[in-house]
Amino acid sequence: MRDYHDFLKEILIPEAALQKRVAELGEAVSRDYAGQDLLLICILRGGVMFLTDLMRQIRVPHVIEFMAVSSYGVGRRETSGQARITLDLNTNIRDHNVLLVEDIIDSGRTLTSVLDLLSSRKPKSLEVCTLLDKWERREVDVPIKYCGFQIPDEFVFGYGLDLDEYHRNLPFVGVVDLEKYSKEASTV
Ligand code: IMP
Ligand code: MG
Repeated sequence: MRDYHDFLKEILIPEAALQKRVAELGEAVSRDYAGQDLLLICILRGGVMFLTDLMRQIRVPHVIEFMAVSSYGVGRRETSGQARITLDLNTNIRDHNVLLVEDIIDSGRTLTSVLDLLSSRKPKSLEVCTLLDKWERREVDVPIKYCGFQIPDEFVFGYGLDLDEYHRNLPFVGVVDLEKYSKEASTV
């Protein structure tokens, strides 16, 4: 696997800015859910780093759960349309305050499928917290209660987000130079 420096176009959101914003989101969530029960549902795998940082900034007692959804495979840069649930929850969310924790909302299709499914299970409330919002690409409207950053229409990686499953570990969000990335890929 190549070093990310070979195809990093720019660092879009540095580590310090991410941490500062996550702390602000944690503060807002703590305020809004004070005195209430709270269930954070993280969508694997992209939302993991955001979840673990966010939950450390949330002061209300809460529970975490995970779901996995497959929207597109390695080598693809767009959602196929229909999201498939590949890992479902272990708990009943009925009458719980659910906050869905996502890495990025692009077309909005993945989130719409997940929201449809979860709302059919009758939670007390259902809200969305996304780190990134690629708003220019939206195809279906989604209700976002908490948003970290609105970003331009570029493919990003790091801080949980993958580039063909790699590089999720980087502490910043970077933009990939797709031309350099694919050129490199074809020479390995
Ligand atoms: P949507 O269904 O088009 O909104 O796609 C959302 C999902 O696509 C996200 O949960 C991510 O997993 C993935 N995704 C969208 N844009 C990017 C990106 O720029 N980098 C990495 N993953 C992305
Ligand atoms: Mg994702």
